[in-house]
Amino acid sequence: MTDQRRSDGSLRHLLTLADLNRDELEMLLERAQHHVRRRGDAAPRSDVLAGITVANLFTEPSTRTRVSFELAARRLGADVVNLEMQLSSRVKGESMLDTVFTLESLHVDVFVVRDAEAGVPALVADNVGPAVSVLSAGEAHLSHPTQGLLDVLTILQRKGSCEQLAVAIVGDIRHSRVARSAWQALRTLGVGELRLVAPPALMPAAEEFAGCRRYDSIDDGIRGVDVVMMLRIQRERFADADIPAGDAYFERYGLTPARLALAQRDAIVMHPQPMNRGVEIDSVVADGPQSVIRDQVTNGVAVRMAVLETLATRPAPRRG
Ligand code: NCD
Repeated sequence: MTDQRRSDGSLRHLLTLADLNRDELEMLLERAQHHVRRRGDAAPRSDVLAGITVANLFTEPSTRTRVSFELAARRLGADVVNLEMQLSSRVKGESMLDTVFTLESLHVDVFVVRDAEAGVPALVADNVGPAVSVLSAGEAHLSHPTQGLLDVLTILQRKGSCEQLAVAIVGDIRHSRVARSAWQALRTLGVGELRLVAPPALMPAAEEFAGCRRYDSIDDGIRGVDVVMMLRIQRERFADADIPAGDAYFERYGLTPARLALAQRDAIVMHPQPMNRGVEIDSVVADGPQSVIRDQVTNGVAVRMAVLETLATRPAPRRG
């Protein structure tokens, strides 16, 4: 496995939350909270990353994640280039690594990588020079570390701490990198209880998510929980699965106001987006008073600022 740390123990890459310890997670979350502003207030700005160049290398579609990485980098004073690879060099046959080496020659210091294939962020990390950092912005169904951090930050802002909380993740958990990263962070922070709610075909393998209780019934799964995290069915990640089609999915697994009433009265509702209203979530819930979905988006920029600062702040390299 690619080492995420430098020899002095500091974080150099962020490819997964799985091996971050509690101190590292709390340090990143604290730094992120420092960058959070209320909607309507001016965005935070600094120049700590002046002279640093960040390249967003995305081979899968993304709106929120790519835009928030770009804003985070710019708000810290970095230069940013965006490459949507399916439109450019990849289809021309140039390999991902050739593109990376080209960008390295152009003094890119940080690569933000999203790819549908497992192992691509680590492949980039293993091949760049020692002063370069790599950040996963979503790796296959496996890992989405900045999403995991922003999800936990959103929970902590509303609930204070994780230890007493019951959290239910609902929907296509099997294909969700969001669920895996959230679980890794919540586990390390000592979450009280994590429940998985999904049709059997969308449940992860038995050896994953150790210790989580599994439910086929959403009513049973969300009863009494403090946090309901809804997920999209990620049809792009599987060919076929035995899941209720059309309206039947919403009837069995959709989060409606009546179902949400089974959770704690002050339960919060989360969704990483993109949302399919009327499929996994009722619009009344998505836009309702218990929804923190917009906070998740706001927190995404703060978390990415914290991660970029942590990985990429270093003594100015000597050049030329
Ligand atoms: C998620 C992703 O890409 O994994 N979206 C995101 O990053 N906000 C979840 C999804 O696509 O359903």
